[in-house]
Amino acid sequence: HEDSTHSEHAKAFVESKTFTGTKPEIVPWTRAMPVPPVLKPVVSTAKQEIYQLSIERTTAEILPGLKSPVMGFGGQFVGPTIRAKTGRKTLIMFHNELDEAANVHLHGGHVAPEHDGHPKDVIEPGRTRLYLYPNSQQGTTLWYHDHSHGTEAAHVYLGLHGAYVIEDDSERALNLPSGAYDVPILLRDIQFDDSGNIVVFDDPSKRTVVLANGVPQPYFEVAARKYRFRLVNSANQRVFHLKLSGDKFTRIGSDGGLLAGTLEQDELVLSSAERSDIVIDFSKHPVGSHVVLTDSVAGEILRFDVVRRASDSSRVPAKLRPLPAMPYSTVDRVVDLAFFFKPNDRPDGTINGKVFDMDRVDFTIKRGTTETWLIKSSDPTGVKHNFHLHLVQFRVLERNGGPPLPGDAGLKDTIPITAGETVKVQATFTGYTGRYVYHCHFLEHSWIGMMAQLEIVP
Ligand code: C2O
Ligand code: CU
Repeated sequence: HEDSTHSEHAKAFVESKTFTGTKPEIVPWTRAMPVPPVLKPVVSTAKQEIYQLSIERTTAEILPGLKSPVMGFGGQFVGPTIRAKTGRKTLIMFHNELDEAANVHLHGGHVAPEHDGHPKDVIEPGRTRLYLYPNSQQGTTLWYHDHSHGTEAAHVYLGLHGAYVIEDDSERALNLPSGAYDVPILLRDIQFDDSGNIVVFDDPSKRTVVLANGVPQPYFEVAARKYRFRLVNSANQRVFHLKLSGDKFTRIGSDGGLLAGTLEQDELVLSSAERSDIVIDFSKHPVGSHVVLTDSVAGEILRFDVVRRASDSSRVPAKLRPLPAMPYSTVDRVVDLAFFFKPNDRPDGTINGKVFDMDRVDFTIKRGTTETWLIKSSDPTGVKHNFHLHLVQFRVLERNGGPPLPGDAGLKDTIPITAGETVKVQATFTGYTGRYVYHCHFLEHSWIGMMAQLEIVP
């Protein structure tokens, strides 16, 4: 059955032509926001779950009536959600059905280097690779995406992204909204030409169509009760400034798991690859009303339609769970993200003045050490970047010499940084030895070199 689905996807892809007509218009609130299905394990025991997932070309109806050629895990433009549990291993056999190399990175995952989807560590076309995710970290919202050297930006843009949710017992004991009331939402942007063809790389500011779980301006029917939404910014290169019409966000979680306590925010800033878990209590809104999620640039993104009453035994306590204590830091480093301009050529992306080299180690770190990194951008252009560190979650100590922003709260693996800014973060490098990357998560920036490598040694 799996095989026939795959070949049908591939056939549809081959048959999808270059569109020559007029781009169909997006009519807001005419399509429901899909909830990516939860992937079913092929084997499940108390200790581990084993999954199979393809990496393939497929089509997706993003604009009404057009089947656009895209890529997808399991043939889905937003890949299936993988649900894991702290203390139970996840093993996934990824089969690369593309005609080019690809790989998989579990963003925010505490995993061994050989399972981290290092840029040089790819799955050749036609090959299968087993990734082992130990799920030794606490409950949180992660996501998985391609990280293959030189092709990562195009692959993620074309759809190789999906949510990976870890649950844990102490979080479950809090009785937050769960089950059908716990919904991941991947937000991203995309550009179409006048005929409705996907434009892969142009000026990112032309990616004016914003998708929620793969659909532009969908509605989502909700009951008048509390929902948990796991927001993931899966856009290649974007900072969302989100608001809710007639309501606030109650934030409960960040990149690495629950916040110490809820944060009420009017505006939510989410740069590429950052996550934010929020609760919206629709019982404050009468049945028949709408709550609209907007972005300061893109405008209206998603409409929640309150359509029925429902009972609700979930709770959202103001105090959630204390964050782990921060050990004493013994090493200071500086990480400077900047473009380097060359006459008559595209700029290079650099970190500390160097373009990424997969065979060069930029920082050598002793396992178990706690370090303080000053992340800055001396970029001459004033553009935005962001910073992502593999393997560990960090804490933001300071932003521009002052207190961190609300978006910096909790356990983080990705933060936005604008030219001229400085952000002090602290991380403890526990668990594994080996090589991991850190980079700007604006994927067209890391693609041109804004990436570097650390090695953890015994
Ligand atoms: Cu989201 Cu280096 O990755
Ligand atoms: Cu950048």
